[in-house]
Amino acid sequence: MTIRQTWWRYTTRGIFASAVAAAAFITNGCSGPPVHPWTGEVSLPRPVTGSAGMVTSDARLATDAGIEILNAGGNAIDAAVATAFTLAVVYPEAGNLGGGGFLVARLAGGNSVALDFRERAPFGATRDMYLDSVGAVSENSLRGHLASGVPGSVAGLWEAHRVHGSLPWARVLAPAIRLAREGFVIDERFARTLREDSSQLLPFAGSARLFFRDGRPLDAGMLWTNRDLAESLDRIAERGMEGFYSGRTAELIVAEMRRGGGIISDRDLADYRAVWRPPVQFTYRGHRVISMPPPSSGGVTLACIAGILDQYDLPRMAWHSPEELHLTAEAMRRAFAVRNAFLGDPEFVHVPVDSLLSSAFLAAQQRSIDLRLATPSLRVAFDSARVPQEPVHTTHLSVVDGRGNAVALTTTINGLYGSGVTVDGGGFLLNNEMDDFAAKPGAPNMFGLVQGEANAIAPGKRILSSMTPTIVCDSAGAPVIVTGARGGPYIITAVFQVIANLLDHSMELPGAVAAPRVHHQHLPDRLLAERNAMDSTTAAALLSMGHRVERARALGSAPTLARRGTQWIGVCDPRTGGAAAAQQALP
Ligand code: DON
Repeated sequence: MTIRQTWWRYTTRGIFASAVAAAAFITNGCSGPPVHPWTGEVSLPRPVTGSAGMVTSDARLATDAGIEILNAGGNAIDAAVATAFTLAVVYPEAGNLGGGGFLVARLAGGNSVALDFRERAPFGATRDMYLDSVGAVSENSLRGHLASGVPGSVAGLWEAHRVHGSLPWARVLAPAIRLAREGFVIDERFARTLREDSSQLLPFAGSARLFFRDGRPLDAGMLWTNRDLAESLDRIAERGMEGFYSGRTAELIVAEMRRGGGIISDRDLADYRAVWRPPVQFTYRGHRVISMPPPSSGGVTLACIAGILDQYDLPRMAWHSPEELHLTAEAMRRAFAVRNAFLGDPEFVHVPVDSLLSSAFLAAQQRSIDLRLATPSLRVAFDSARVPQEPVHTTHLSVVDGRGNAVALTTTINGLYGSGVTVDGGGFLLNNEMDDFAAKPGAPNMFGLVQGEANAIAPGKRILSSMTPTIVCDSAGAPVIVTGARGGPYIITAVFQVIANLLDHSMELPGAVAAPRVHHQHLPDRLLAERNAMDSTTAAALLSMGHRVERARALGSAPTLARRGTQWIGVCDPRTGGAAAAQQALP
């Protein structure tokens, strides 16, 4: 079995195992009544409620850091930045300094903003760098020093705080620095993922030193400190993003690259900037949805799924009836075909966002759906060379404060523990985001995504992502849902289903997040379904329509906040655990 196959099996097993753990233990915010009222079997996360600030993330200590910053008088941006830095310490399988991400915020004044801090291909990258002598895709985009794009997280968190933060920068980093220096007790989830990923981490000296003692992975119950990471964070606290992209940390990254044959250089680091972009905005069931534009595919693909399905009366259909699942699968199929053909870094390829989200284009997609039969994916093909005319385009946290600001932030190093390479002396892992490029257009990547020329590798180009930090507003423009997810391409369909469960089926938040999901990504041509996503009669009906239905273990994980009246409700996703917490009172 290749690393690529092992990786994917591992990733899905990891999420599944977490879901089982969350269902079995009553230890954190994800515990609660074990039975889902609609499906009878899935465990429900226990919601928190409050009328001031609220944070949800994949790790209790990171959520607590966000609440600490809200209680210190910080706003939602400060709290999101503190939560993200703390995830880099306590949740190193996905939280990071060595990765990248996206942030969407709805500000109290009514402005919506989107910040792109996605990794870029190093200047030394070449289009065919992952092809071997016979043109096959190698595993170098997944493991080791060549797998990393230039990290964007520190630049993004710095930029978000520089423009919209309110507390001093060093104060916002304080909880993360404290946890790195004073340590925290390793929980069972962290210990388990380390055990499962040992063989991928041990070959790299920095990772072996950081995550192992005498050749054995760190164990649950140990107090773990990461002094190198504390010092990296100190440099960021003192010098802002310069404390990462230049000076000692930059030297450590470049030295690590030299040791392992990687290509990220001083120039790559010095040149990196986070970029503000106009968010993708669209309407679904009378609500304004604000999401992430390219180089994430999240917002455009979500808008495409929603734009096709908004033309059907889903609220009148029974949840996960054959009729509703057929239409959902057909909308997802078409939206991912659009994604894979047209989307890439807008600074390198023309991405016709307005055309793809125009009512004419979406109506044409809707008309192409046969109500009785699945359309084979190979018949849904778009030629990116024939661009429609412009009408003359992994770990998530959600935060609100008591002042009307809302932030959705997703950040990743791609696979669990990224490239496996720790920057020795820096105390942090590097991403394996280069695998999100089309290493060979037309050949599947780790997530099975078959992508085209628009996402081919080029020096300095940002890598197409599926991350979908999203905020839904009511008709008065006030945020009512703050969401996003982990899970590669499952992110987009998980975010859509959380929103649809809330808006189309009026579910309560815990049920909307826990409800079993389905997923279609055009190719491979199959409808993935979590356990209990449909009964056997529905599965038989879908099979007879031509859908290839396959069981999946877990389809994305989406810590979400939703408002009812003046109360915010927060949950983590039982598929990964974590915690939501409410601020007790306005400071
Ligand atoms: O940016 C992307 O689309 C992927 N690198 C996200 C990876 C991911 O969500 C893995 N999660 N478990």
